[in-house]
Amino acid sequence: MRHEPRVLDHEYDGITEYDNPTPGWWHMLFIATVVFSAFYAVFWHASELAWTPYDALASDKKDYYGRLFAVLGTLSPDEPTMFRMMADERWMNFGGSVFAANCAVCHGSTGSGITGPNLTDDSWINVEKMTDIFRVITEGVGAKGMPAWGNRLTENERILVASFVANMRSHPQPGKPPEGKPIPPWGPAPAPGGAPHGG
Ligand code: HEC
Repeated sequence: MRHEPRVLDHEYDGITEYDNPTPGWWHMLFIATVVFSAFYAVFWHASELAWTPYDALASDKKDYYGRLFAVLGTLSPDEPTMFRMMADERWMNFGGSVFAANCAVCHGSTGSGITGPNLTDDSWINVEKMTDIFRVITEGVGAKGMPAWGNRLTENERILVASFVANMRSHPQPGKPPEGKPIPPWGPAPAPGGAPHGG
């Protein structure tokens, strides 16, 4: 239904005004957005059920790694496995996130050392071969302030973060000066599909 344009009573300096109201559907839309905004604000700011983009990312990551872990199966803490993980960017990313969440406070986000030693150089205190990294992470070095992670991280998580730490050696970072004694390089990675080498 159309309104007949109607001139309103008042007039200022020769200027008059049409009564030209906004249509009903427009009002309904306006009221709907106001009502919606109240629910929106209460839901996102005060409700337990709301989630943030960080929650959404974390939950997607969890699903993603859950699916990857299902494919991965149960790892064993040996050198060929660690080399295999080091060669796979997805698992280095995962090991990196475990490191950032649990280890960076003491070893620095790049592994260059804070209270814990620099993990990127060739000098090691408790490590001679790659699998020692897994052992140190699992058992800790109680007297020296390195916590044991055997009960706090799953075995797969420890193998993946150990592989991430082993890989840090290929990116030396200036930081804490070398501690312990220099050890030889990790040795050649097994050829893809080839027989695992000893050691
Ligand atoms: C509370 C501090 C702290 C945290 C957290 C911590 N570390 Fe350590 N870490 C140390 C200290 C201190 C040492 C040195 C132990 C020693 O002197 O024998 C160490 C030693 C190590 C070593 C052996 C280094 C070497 O030269 O022998 C590795 C590998 C290691 N940490 C990995 C990790 C990983 C991986 C995490 C996380 C899952 C972690 N650390 C969390 C303090 C920490």
